[in-house]
Amino acid sequence: MEPDPSIISPETPEGMSPWTWSDLFPDADYQFSFQFKRGLLSSFYQPSSPASFALRERVRLLSQHRSDCLAWSNSSEEAIAETHRLFAELRLVGSSSISDPEQSLLALGQSLEADLILLQITEGQPVVVAGVACFPTGWSLPAKLGLPLLGVHQGVPKLNEELGPRINRFLGGLKSDVSWERANWGLSATSQLSLNPLTPFPRLTPQTPLEEIYIRVETQSLTILPSRTAILFGIRIHLTPLADLWVNANLRQRIQRALRTLPASLADYKGLTPVLAKLIAG
Ligand code: HEM
Repeated sequence: MEPDPSIISPETPEGMSPWTWSDLFPDADYQFSFQFKRGLLSSFYQPSSPASFALRERVRLLSQHRSDCLAWSNSSEEAIAETHRLFAELRLVGSSSISDPEQSLLALGQSLEADLILLQITEGQPVVVAGVACFPTGWSLPAKLGLPLLGVHQGVPKLNEELGPRINRFLGGLKSDVSWERANWGLSATSQLSLNPLTPFPRLTPQTPLEEIYIRVETQSLTILPSRTAILFGIRIHLTPLADLWVNANLRQRIQRALRTLPASLADYKGLTPVLAKLIAG
């Protein structure tokens, strides 16, 4: 059997399983994944190196496009301060300006390699109240501010019907000392980290050659703040040229099976429809 390379093994804390391509592409028809693994906040948000490209890109975006990446509402001030203190204790961010929400989000956005969103439970629903999202995949944080999670997921075909109540139950049961991770995949026509629709980015077309297609994995971390006043949702992007995976016949077949069985509405949402026929055939 050919190797099943892990996606993020160097960053995986000892004793915890890394995300593998088999997790993302099991030998099965496509379905929304509700698989979670235990993780550590300190590893999830840790930059891959002190001056990584991702960190430099975050500093650039937060300087040139701050209002597209960063958003907060008045009710979130205490939760932002608590998040800042939490990451300062983990030594992932400096501890200055903890009393200024915008400066806190800015410091977090520039120091962590993952995006971060805070949700508060209001009338039994998790609602987006703040965050810093430099590398979104086709959405923008300011447009999601104030929305309950059902509203955030509204544009994803079938998701609320299939998983909405289960997601809310899962979030309602989070414990503050445990962080859970999940993973999502998509394809893109660019290795750009930010796919914020407020700035145009290349889309997949029938002409996009295999060599220019990237598989875009989002690992996500979910935990609840020690005060239990807000849920912390992190998103980290991992890009791999699809051609690197295509040489592994077994993995290629499992990716093709997912593409073949993806509902058409979801393929459209993910922007994959223009390349589906070519990838399934080859
Ligand atoms: C806990 C379980 C969760 C599951 C199973 C889940 C699942 C998904 C799935 C399947 C998608 C579609 C992505 C794709 O297939 O390309 C999606 C999109 C998204 N999710 Fe979640 N999600 C969860 C939690 C959250 C949370 C806590 C947030 C925080 C705000 C969130 C924010 C988003 C956003 C912003 C999008 C993109 C929506 C758009 O394109 O407009 N998700 N989610």
